[in-house]
Amino acid sequence: MQHLKRFAFLFFAILIKAQAQNGVVANYDESQVPPYTLPDVLKTTTNRTVRDKETWEKVRRPEIIKLFEENVYGQLPKSYERLTYSIKNEHGGAMAGKATLKEVVIEVVENNKPLTINLVLFVPTKQQGQVPVFLLINNRGKENTDPTRSHKSDFWPAEMIIDSGYAIAAFHVSDLAPDDSVRYVNGVLGLYPQQLTANDGMRAIGAWAWGASRVLDYFEKDAAIDAKKVALVGHSRGGKASLWAAAEDQRFALCITNCSGNTGAALSRRRFGETISRINTTFPHWFAKNYKKFNDNEASLPVDQHMLLATIAPRPLYATNATKDLWADPKGTFLSLKQAEKVYALYGIESNLPANPPATNQPVIVSPLGYHIREGEHNLTAYDWNNFIKFANVHFKK
Ligand code: GCU
Repeated sequence: MQHLKRFAFLFFAILIKAQAQNGVVANYDESQVPPYTLPDVLKTTTNRTVRDKETWEKVRRPEIIKLFEENVYGQLPKSYERLTYSIKNEHGGAMAGKATLKEVVIEVVENNKPLTINLVLFVPTKQQGQVPVFLLINNRGKENTDPTRSHKSDFWPAEMIIDSGYAIAAFHVSDLAPDDSVRYVNGVLGLYPQQLTANDGMRAIGAWAWGASRVLDYFEKDAAIDAKKVALVGHSRGGKASLWAAAEDQRFALCITNCSGNTGAALSRRRFGETISRINTTFPHWFAKNYKKFNDNEASLPVDQHMLLATIAPRPLYATNATKDLWADPKGTFLSLKQAEKVYALYGIESNLPANPPATNQPVIVSPLGYHIREGEHNLTAYDWNNFIKFANVHFKK
């Protein structure tokens, strides 16, 4: 018995050491957050203070996007040879007649190479005219967006969204870049191989964001959809991609980032929960090669995530956290949103976020920058979606 205990002790001691070496032991202690200075979102690289939206749009915003392209997410290809689509399946009597199902196959061609994005789309039948749509970047199992609805999931509660008068759509990240450090090249990157050799070439998160924009290209051709009212939703790694897509593509009218954490909505310089070095080590296929220069070196990064949120202004942006998901740094997410307020203010848009993070399950909805922290685990739930609908109702004036 004694023997066994000693063995167990040794085993765990070695395990903890190995984890510490990998940097897995994360800081969850607020008093251990290092002192940091955030780059000023309103100070240009030539040290000019931005005081109006014109200077923001002409000078500072493009500068920030460029900095994120070069140092974090990589370049996002802006052109392709052609985009076509076909409807694989259309069913007018879906959800007991409440919706029309469309399974759309979107084909994008570049360098003579085709790429297929499979879109699942339900459009409410009772709505007149073009309808706004929620588009989810699905980073979990495909069963979560089951077109037959024999499998239902709160990760994508399609019935609930249809009942609220919105269309609901989803595509799976694996169509763009499999979420795997070896296989991620088998997708969009096959169309833009030069991205793979460039230090500022995009990787999987960029590919998913690119995919969201191609779906938006499709929405512009679908007469049932109001392409000027597309709410892009992503959870966690998908939430990092939803932010990046909305930053790069200003056609997205509203952005939702759920529990997106590090290199999503949370401030990197706080080093609370997941860090840049951690994320680059575990997920080497997510961000540009250049991003690895900032492993354990956040201070030298010319941006922080509040600047990414700011590029979404003046469009409505909603972020979430969960109480048991400290890995995603709820406080750092809230602080990041607060920093973005300055840019919304340039548009004369006042944020209603409180000075400090709101209490658990107390969503801030009537504000261009919305937020909630939900009781529970890292996940995307019906509670979250219910607030997204309310947020969209306010901003799409439904
Ligand atoms: C991991 C990863 C996070 C990511 C999350 C998810 O926890 O470290 O950065 O957000 O997976 O996608 O669920």
